Amino acid sequence: MRWVDKFHINQKIFGAIIIALLFLASILGYIIWESLTNMMTDELKKRGLTIANTIAASSSDYILTDDYYATYMLITQAQQADEDVRYILIINNNHGLVSHTFAGDIPKGIIRAHVPDAFNRSNVETLTSNEGRIHDVLVPIEEGDIGFVRVGMTEKQAKSYIMKKIGKLIVATILVCIGAAGIAYLVTRIITKPINRLVRVALGISAGKLSLRAKVSSNDDVGKLTQAFNEMADNLISSNKEVEALLDELRDKDRQRDTLILKLISAQEDERKRISRELHDETSQALTSLIVTMRVMADEAKDAEQHELLTTSRDIAAGILREMRDLAVELRPPILDDMGLIPAMRKHVSKFEEKYGINVSMTVPNECVSIESHIAVALYRILQEGLTNIVKHTAATHADVHMEVGLQTISVIIHDNGHGIEQEDLEKARQQNRIGIQGMRERALLLGGTFQIEKSEDGGTEVKVSIPLKSPNRGGADGNDNENNVG
Ligand SMILES: Nc1ncnc2c1ncn2[C@@H]1O[C@H](COP(=O)(O)OP(=O)(O)OP(=O)(O)O)[C@@H](O)[C@H]1O
Ligand SMILES: [Mg+2]
Repeated sequence: MRWVDKFHINQKIFGAIIIALLFLASILGYIIWESLTNMMTDELKKRGLTIANTIAASSSDYILTDDYYATYMLITQAQQADEDVRYILIINNNHGLVSHTFAGDIPKGIIRAHVPDAFNRSNVETLTSNEGRIHDVLVPIEEGDIGFVRVGMTEKQAKSYIMKKIGKLIVATILVCIGAAGIAYLVTRIITKPINRLVRVALGISAGKLSLRAKVSSNDDVGKLTQAFNEMADNLISSNKEVEALLDELRDKDRQRDTLILKLISAQEDERKRISRELHDETSQALTSLIVTMRVMADEAKDAEQHELLTTSRDIAAGILREMRDLAVELRPPILDDMGLIPAMRKHVSKFEEKYGINVSMTVPNECVSIESHIAVALYRILQEGLTNIVKHTAATHADVHMEVGLQTISVIIHDNGHGIEQEDLEKARQQNRIGIQGMRERALLLGGTFQIEKSEDGGTEVKVSIPLKSPNRGGADGNDNENNVG
């Protein structure tokens, strides 16, 4: 019954009442038609029998004396006396026609249409003609010894009488339907008004107007439903408040977490810078003087063994100095602060190629763009981690580093031709508390940027990071907010 669902409740009630009324009127019409038709048929037959009997009683002498005129007058007067009499025939005992009331010729076959039964009893036969049904009443004259009288009673008048009655019934039904429609409209309005009010309030609440309540105007089923609905709305508000409070708490915690991570990164960068400077300025200076002293001592050595010992020690110290310088650069490359992001990236990439034998193509913008130093540091650290991961996790032989500076953002893409990262790898790394990719993502998101890592179409891995060049309320992640040249 899907199509019924399309209608409003008042239309459904309205339709049901009208259909019930029409059904009732049809049944009543049928019963009235049937009983009136039966009554009319019985009555016609009885009347026909009376007329035929009267004619049979009066006509025997006329027939015996061959007084055709008197016979004709008798049946003509009898027909004129009753408008339902269509015809009267008098037939002799040889089935010959004695007299009839037809204006012209007698219709063909009418004599044979109704013949007396073997016992010459009165009987009725219903004939079908082009004027409708005719009840042909046959009555014997003098028990059939003289002949028979046949009276044809037509239904025409009676049918038109019945049709008039049925017509009145139809008009009455239409009037009752109109009245019922009016009553149905009023009743359905009374029933559906509170339901419609409830629907409006429900729609308002779902649109965010949580303070809306439906008016309870009765104690019936709809009234109880309205009351239950209002209580549900009250509960909704209180649970909504709880959710809001929880959300506020969560947002607050999220903000605190971001601040903490920013401070951590900033402290880490400061510490790296400090250690790098210490290694460069203090320790490497001390080592350099030690190496110089050793060389002088080796030059002044008394014997070859002593010279050899001092030269070896000096070479070891020189190796330590080189490693320390590399470490200092790795901790915080001075070139990043002095010359900008692109030279620092180039230097890191060339060291990487040299150290691991992986070929890296780098495409960077030609013109010089200045970016905030914490963005430069973040991108540099992301590059470091991205390249380290290539060495650690994939048998790549080639990598591409592509940088693009737009009006609003700076983006870096690191792509390798290794076996590609899978979703399970990321899941596993999360379970094992790996922080490389997580750190890259955090750095990008803290600066209002985006981060993606996925298997590329050619099968390798692609890291995409994009950071807005300017963002309000952004603290430095490297401990300062200086401008830094990209190139
Ligand atoms: N370029 C890459 N190609 C294929 N898989 C990679 C690549 N980079 C990362 N992965 C996968 O992603 C995982 C997570 O990397 P992530 O850098 O977070 O952790 P890690 O390198 O294993 O440890 P660390 O915390 O020291 O960085 C790696 O274990 C590796 O399986
Ligand atoms: Mg890693």
